[in-house]
Amino acid sequence: MKRIAVLTSGGDAPGMNACIRAIVLTAEHYNIEVFGYRHGYNGLLNQEYKPLDRDKIANILQAGGTVLRSARCLEFKSEASAQKAAANLDELNIEALLVIGGDGSFRGAHHLSQYWDKQIIGLPGTIDNDIWGTDATIGYFTAIETALDSIDKVRDTADAFERIFLVEVMGRHAGFIGLSAAVSAGADQVLLPELIKDSTSALQSILYHIQTARKIKGNTSYIIVITENLWPGGVTALSEVLTKETGTDCRPVILGHVQRGGSPVAQDRMLATKLGAYAVEAAIAGKTHIMIGESAHRVVEVPLEETWSKTKELDPYLVKIQSQLFDIAQGHIAQNLD
Ligand code: F6P
Repeated sequence: MKRIAVLTSGGDAPGMNACIRAIVLTAEHYNIEVFGYRHGYNGLLNQEYKPLDRDKIANILQAGGTVLRSARCLEFKSEASAQKAAANLDELNIEALLVIGGDGSFRGAHHLSQYWDKQIIGLPGTIDNDIWGTDATIGYFTAIETALDSIDKVRDTADAFERIFLVEVMGRHAGFIGLSAAVSAGADQVLLPELIKDSTSALQSILYHIQTARKIKGNTSYIIVITENLWPGGVTALSEVLTKETGTDCRPVILGHVQRGGSPVAQDRMLATKLGAYAVEAAIAGKTHIMIGESAHRVVEVPLEETWSKTKELDPYLVKIQSQLFDIAQGHIAQNLD
């Protein structure tokens, strides 16, 4: 194998640079050239690339974002685009393409594989952690830390004013960031897409929980972590309802894209480095149409289609203890009510 290419696609995630670095250093070790396509699949269509070597990736390990830039490329869904990309890759004699991104990026890779007969390998890079087949995705750990840091700060002012706060975290349609941030921050409630199917009945239980908790504990801060795209009308609408129904000020905080930025934490750097290096060795071994992930601390190869056709579940034990620790119907809190 003489030349491979790499691109980053979809929402950027802290650790993508660490992964690019590991790919370049590992490839250099095996005397393989690496071309980096810029702006995700757009770069593939426009033949926008740059050769990467040791100097180009110096000191990017600790940087957030992606030095290759990223994009969401809807145009890539067409047959003509995939054919163009295949021709561009062949023009540069690329033998394997490594795609760092989420499920949309992997679908793009699968689409390309129908028109390009060389190797394609995916690397899970998204803060959402919603990729089946890997315990964690690159960027997820940093996003949790960022969310946690903000929720801790919100707690200070919530305590000072004895207010309710509704903190919206990212996750698209998955509750991984929400659950981990809530457990780590000791949030009083967590509202996740996997657990809430009907917002009308959910509202009653949200209110019941707040009102009962305040009856037991008196007026203290109360924090609810909620995943984006969950509540009809968004967190501002829900905050208004909660303020009206409880008679206590409820403030919405949307954490938004800050969760995507920042220097990757050690866990993300380690994961990105491990998976990036392995992807190059898998390419040398002739592997294709797989994602490189990690399961129980071991690197795993997962058929690409399974990464989006199967649904990754929240850790049921974490879900159980989050509700158990703040259970107002049983346990010590209920005993205090008697
Ligand atoms: O996929 C990562 C993510 O940050 C999601 O959590 C979020 O829903 C989405 O990207 C936001 O995308 P954009 O930056 O394109 O608005």
